[in-house]
Amino acid sequence: MKYAAAIAVGTLALAAHAGEREAELIRLVRQDCGSCHGMTLKGGLGLPLTPEALGDKPADSLVSTVMNGRPGTAMPPWKTIISEQDAEWIVKRLLEGFPEEK
Ligand code: HEC
Repeated sequence: MKYAAAIAVGTLALAAHAGEREAELIRLVRQDCGSCHGMTLKGGLGLPLTPEALGDKPADSLVSTVMNGRPGTAMPPWKTIISEQDAEWIVKRLLEGFPEEK
């Protein structure tokens, strides 16, 4: 029982840490990406980033667009401020319907 409780506490601590990074990424997408893709991500200068718009595009190519940008368009590369893992997390959430900022 004691052992199980220790695992539960450890998992909670990890989840809290991941939660902080996730909150940062949600803010980044809503604010920075939103400045081009629209505050509701339904498009503006940039294309819409809704599940409907992205659904049939391969996730790896979307991750690569986020990391490297699209040369010749306004879409900038983000790899200097986010990791590949962050970009994968963002694309996965975009495909599901991006969470609101808390
Ligand atoms: C300065 C404006 C700008 C900002 C800021 C920006 N984008 Fe973009 N983005 C664009 C434009 C313009 C395109 C369309 C490029 C094209 O014509 O292929 C695009 C395309 C994309 C695509 C590909 C969409 C598709 O249907 O293929 C994704 C995914 C994307 N952006 C994600 C992001 C994310 C995530 C962020 C924030 C981390 C971000 N963008 C920030 C302008 C921007």
